[in-house]
Formats: sequence, structure tokens, C-alpha cells
Amino acid sequence: MMTYKHIQKLDAKTDLIILCSKGNLNTLKTFVSVEKIDFEGAFSESQLYYGSNGNRIYALGLGEPKDAVKIDDAFRKLCFNQKKYWKGTIQILADDLTIDQVKKAVVGLEMATYEIGQFKSKKEDQKNLNISFSSPNTISNALKEGKLIGETINRIKALVDAPANLKTPEFLGKWAEDSAKTNNYKCAVLHKKELEMQKFDAVIAVGQGSVNPPVVIVTEYLPKKGGKVDIGLVGKGITFDTGGLSIKSSTNLHYMKSDMGGAAVVLGVVELVAKLKLNINIVGVVASAENAVDSNSYRPGDVINSYSGKTIEIIDTDAEGRLVLADGLSYMIKKFKPAQVIDLATLTGSVVQTLGYSAAGMFTNNKKMAQKMSDIGFDVNERVWQLPLFADFEDDLHSDIADLRNFSGKPIGGAITAAKFLEAFMESHKNWMHLDIAGVSFGDSAYSKMKGASGYGVQLITNYIKSLI
Ligand code: BES
Ligand code: ZN
Ligand code: ZN
Repeated sequence: MMTYKHIQKLDAKTDLIILCSKGNLNTLKTFVSVEKIDFEGAFSESQLYYGSNGNRIYALGLGEPKDAVKIDDAFRKLCFNQKKYWKGTIQILADDLTIDQVKKAVVGLEMATYEIGQFKSKKEDQKNLNISFSSPNTISNALKEGKLIGETINRIKALVDAPANLKTPEFLGKWAEDSAKTNNYKCAVLHKKELEMQKFDAVIAVGQGSVNPPVVIVTEYLPKKGGKVDIGLVGKGITFDTGGLSIKSSTNLHYMKSDMGGAAVVLGVVELVAKLKLNINIVGVVASAENAVDSNSYRPGDVINSYSGKTIEIIDTDAEGRLVLADGLSYMIKKFKPAQVIDLATLTGSVVQTLGYSAAGMFTNNKKMAQKMSDIGFDVNERVWQLPLFADFEDDLHSDIADLRNFSGKPIGGAITAAKFLEAFMESHKNWMHLDIAGVSFGDSAYSKMKGASGYGVQLITNYIKSLI
């Protein structure tokens, strides 16, 4: 557990972190009296000195102005690597940090406490540390907010990293119900029977091959009077994606436990918005199923119905995310009529081919939303990059026997055709955005040996929502 405090004066006997921009070691030199300082202040570089009282004095490099967007990572790395030596209180000389940078620092420190080894029989002891920021600014709100953001990101990462035998659709529903109770918002879980009654046929088709029944999770945080929904978030919650009968190869198949990364962002953002008590009406819908192989699985060639009433010819059962999202989006529009809709999904391998691990694919016809999301993405270092929704791709979704098909069958433009498929269920909503987060939600990290959840999206979407207030 970390607690964060604002202090006015440093204590000379306590461990201290001194922040240095590249080439500017003036502050450091007032604390450390060494002739030659082996440290330049490059981003995330750190160096340990000992003060005359035997206390640790870390120099932490913040690099150049352009590095400021990822300042959280400098704190995260130092804390992750050094916290085993820390006891009691660590001070941070944060006089030159803006309020926003203090918040980011706290997010990074909090993220350093994330324990990926949740399922080890022997867990590391969590220790209690006080982090004291010395600053002339009014930072106590930034400290509180940073902690809430960091905590929420860690909870979301734990969810994405959890194995699929534990993390069933029902488990996600229970997670949301617990979060709603703790943080004072509404949550309803639509179970299998209810889904059948309400004709969530696409969700049901995707989930019918699994012993773990599908659910749709509906969360509502509506603090503003009148009940008009400002923003609706929809997330893909595939708890495990085998590909279904169009089965995936076994290489890296275990990582398909992370195919609910979009759902995790939706759950995390609603929780965080409620924790921060933001004055905005938000609804989150998660469409969750396990895409399994079974004699009861839906098949390539099947024609299924959907919540919207549109019929879909299944070409590939591995294109399941767009099916559950179609129902989630239709339900969102019909039931809540939100002013804006954003969906998030680990939707395609194609977006990973296109943008790698560097940005989410952003699809929207709304220039204002695109510009805002793009700017915020750079600010929080959770980038998005726009890809087109050209009408040229519509033919790729033509079906002779149904209203549309779920896959073009061609190895080109996969992220775009997936987005075009979703668009067909949006009823020409003017303020809709789809984010394909397949490349950024889960991957390699400096903090684990295997791939893991990144926490991508929580800050991006929360800051976007804040910009609407
Ligand atoms: N869950 C996958 C997409 C994915 C791939 C996420 C890699 C994370 C990492 C999705 O359901 C899928 O299988 N998409 C197929 C669609 C194709 C069959 C039309 C893909 O992108 O190959
Ligand atoms: Zn799939
Ligand atoms: Zn999938």
C-alpha cells in the first residue's frame, strides 16, 4: 500500500528522489557533493548516492521536454526496481513538476506496485510506503486522483491477466456488480435466459459452444438530473478466443485470455469516473462470451440473427468480436440513446499488422471526436491513429443469403472491414468512434518476462470524458 502526502519541507535524514532534466544537474549538486557526477538526466536514467545522514538520494532523469508525456514511466521504473530497499517514507523533490505531472508521477508509482504473480502459491509481502511530495503547488487533489487512477489501472490489469478458467463471463459480471456496490453506481447483469428473451442472438451464437454462459453487463453512472446519457461505452468481452470451429493455431493461443481488454477498459472507466465523482452521465455495456470449440459451437456458413434484427452469415467463427459488439452497440443505442458512443475491442490481428504496438486503430466519421481523442492520446501516451471507414469496403461485407457477412474472406484491410461491420449496426449515429486496441492492450513489458496487460485505455477514455464536462 502506498500513501501519498504533500509536504512543505524536506527532511534531511529521509530517503529522497531528486528530479533532473537532461543536462541540468544544478539541484542535484546542492544535495550531492561528488566531483564527477556519473549521471546526465537522460529519461528514466537513475543513480543512487548516499547523503551525509546515510539516507538514499536518487537522481532520477526526466530527459527532454518531449519525454514529459511518459513521466509516469520514469517513476514506475525507479520504484519497481528499488522498492525492495525502501522502508517508511520516500520524499520526492517535486518543486518543478506541474500539478498534472505530479498526478502522472503518482500513477507511475502506483503502477509499480502491480503484482503480476497473483496465482503464485507464495506471494511477495506487500509493504506500506509513504511517498511525500514537496511542492509549492496545491497538489493534494492531484495526489488523490493519481492514486485512484493508478489503483483502477492495476485492477483492470489484474482482470486482463487473469486466466480464462477463472475469468468467465459470469465472473466479469460479478466483478462489475462488486465494483458498482463499492463505488455507488448501478449495475445489471443480463444472464443467458434474459439474453434469450431480449434476443441478443449474436452474443448467444458466439457463446453457445462454451459451458460458461454469455452475459451482457450494463453499468450506469448517472449523477446529472434528467437522465440524458452523455456517453455510452461498449466493450468486447471475449473471455477466451479459441477462434471457435475456425480454430486458431496453438502458438500464443494462451494469450487469447486477454480478448476482453476492451471490456476491461469499459469496466475500469465507469469505475474510475464514479470514484472521481465526475459530473457526467455515462453508461457502460460489456458483451461477454467465451468463443469455444464444441459440438454445439456456431459454424462457418451459419446464418444468425442479432439484437438489431439484421441477419448475419458467419464466414469465420474467429471474427466473433464484431458479433458480440454488434449486439452491445444496438442495445446501447436503442436503450440509452447516448449523445456519443465509443466502443473498444481487441478486434483484429490486422490492426497489429498495421500499427504494431504503438497506437490503437481509431475509426470515426466525426472529425471533432477524432481530433480530441488523438490529442488526448498523445498527452497520456496512449496513442490512437485514425484509419478510414471508406465506403469502398462495404462490398466486402455483402452476403447473398443474409443481410451481411462477418468476414470478407480476403487478407486485406481486416481492421477496416471489421469497423465497417460495426458501423452497419450504428444506425448512422453521428458521434460514434471505434477503437481497435488489439495491439496495445496486452503485450511485452519491461516489468514482466511474458506478455501482460498494459492498462491501455483507462486514462485515454477518462480524460476524453473529462474533456466533455
Ligand atoms: N481476438 C482476435 C483479434 C486479436 C488478434 C486480438 C491478436 C489480439 C491479438 C479476433 O477475434 C480475431 O480472431 N480476429 C481475426 C478476424 C478474422 C478471422 C476476420 C483476425 O484478425 O485475424
Ligand atoms: Zn477471434
Ligand atoms: Zn477475439
